[in-house]
Amino acid sequence: MHRIIIEGGRQLSGKIKISGSKNSAVALVPAAVLCDEEVTIANVPNISDINALDEMLTFLGAKVKRSEDVIRIDSSKIENKLIPENMSKKLRASYYFMGALLSRFKKVEMYFPGGCSIGARPINLHLKGFRALGAKVEENDNLFIITADNLRGAKINLDFASVGATINLMLAAVKAEGTTIISNAAKEPHVVNVATFLNNMGAKISGAGTSEIKIVGVKHLHSCFHEVVPDYVETGTYMILASAIGKDITITNIIPDHVESLISKLDDMGVPMQIGVDFIKINAPLKLKQTNIKTQVYPGFPTDLQQPMAALLTQATGKSTINETIWENRFLNLIELNKMGATAETVTNSKAVIVGPTKLKGKNVKATDLRAGACLVIAGLIADGKTTIENADYILRGYENIIEKLTNIGAKIKLEEIE
Ligand code: EPZ
Repeated sequence: MHRIIIEGGRQLSGKIKISGSKNSAVALVPAAVLCDEEVTIANVPNISDINALDEMLTFLGAKVKRSEDVIRIDSSKIENKLIPENMSKKLRASYYFMGALLSRFKKVEMYFPGGCSIGARPINLHLKGFRALGAKVEENDNLFIITADNLRGAKINLDFASVGATINLMLAAVKAEGTTIISNAAKEPHVVNVATFLNNMGAKISGAGTSEIKIVGVKHLHSCFHEVVPDYVETGTYMILASAIGKDITITNIIPDHVESLISKLDDMGVPMQIGVDFIKINAPLKLKQTNIKTQVYPGFPTDLQQPMAALLTQATGKSTINETIWENRFLNLIELNKMGATAETVTNSKAVIVGPTKLKGKNVKATDLRAGACLVIAGLIADGKTTIENADYILRGYENIIEKLTNIGAKIKLEEIE
C-alpha cells in the first residue's frame, strides 16, 4: 500500500509530458489475444492496471515483453483458461477478455470485473450484445460462462452509449460471420484508438467515433504495430491543476480536440490558455469565476474530470454546481475536500454545489477511487501545509510517473510505501 505526502501552497511551473491513455491501453492489451501472431503496442503507460493485465495475459500463456513504453504480446500459444478472480477483480477492464476470448475460442469464462466503486457498474449491455451475436450467456455467483457455436453479425442498439460495451462488442464481432452494426455507440477517443488497432490487425471496422459503428467480420487477424493515443483524462487533470496554481505550465504530447469541453469550461472561468497543435500553456488567473459542470458522454464534459475539477471549483468565486449524469456514486471526494476547508455539498447522488473561494489547509485525507485521488492531489498542492493522501494506490492505477511529473514542475510531493 502507498500514501502520498504533499507540502502544498507552492506555485508550479514547467513542462508536463502526457502519457498514453489508460482507458485505451487497458483495452488494447486484452485485444491482442484476438491475433495468434505477435503484436507491438507503443506509448503504453507504465501504470498498475497494465501490470495487472500483463499478469492475466501471462496466466493465459501469452508471451509478454515490455521495454519502456512498448509492449510486445505473442498470443500464439494461449489457452482458454478461467482467469482467477483475484486477478480479474483488480480492474474493470479485465472484462475486455470476454469479447476477445469469445471471439477467438467461441467460449469464455470470467468473473464479474473489479473497478472503482463509483456505481453499480452493471455489464448487461455487454451481455445483451454477446447474445445478439449468437452467444449463450450463463451466470452463477458472479461467474459468467459465455459460449457460441458460431458468432454471427447482428444489429445491436446500446441503451446507453457505454464505452466498455462498445469496445467489448467490437472485439466480439471482428471475426463474426457477416456484418455487425453497433448503434448508439460510445465516441470516446479510446474507442477510436481500439478500432484503429483492430483495423491495423486486418479487421474491417468503420464509423468508430460516431454513434454507429460497422464491423464486417474477417477470418484472420495478423500482427501489427500500434500506438496508444495520448490520455485526455491525464491531460485534463494537469490542465485543471495548472489553472489553480500554475505559472507558465506547458502540457505537451496532447490532442487539444480531446479536451475541447474542458477548454471551454476553463475559458468560462477566466483561465488564460495558449493552445498549440499538440500542447497547451496555462497560467492560473488571479481570480477564477464560478462555472457549472454537467458530465456527459464524449464529446461532452468527461465524468472522469468532474472530480479533479471539484478541487479547482473550491478556488472559484461564487457558487459552482456539478451535475454527474453517468455514475451514481462519484462525489465521495467532496467529503475529503471539506476536511481541507472546502464548502462542498452533495445535494443528491447526481448534484453537488461548491461555494468558493475557500482557503484549503493540508490534512490527512483518503482516496476513495482513482479520480477522487487525483482531486486530492490537486487540493493538496493548492492547500497550505502538509497533506497526506491514504490509499494512493488508486492514483497509481491511472497516472504514470505522477510523483516525478509533479516534482519536475516544483511540487514537494513524495510517495511512501506502508505495510
Ligand atoms: C469507462 O468505464 C472508463 N473506464 C471510466 O473511467 C469512465 O468513467 C467511463 O468509461 C465513462 O466514460 C475504462 O475505460 C476502463 P460505461 P465503463 O460502460 O466502460 C452504464 C476512470 O476513471 N452501463 O461507459 O465501465 C454504467 O452503469 C474510469 O478512468 C450499464 O448500465 O463505463 C454507467 O452509468 C472510471 N450497463 C454508464 O453506463 C452496461 O453494461 C457508463 O458506463 C455498461 C454500462
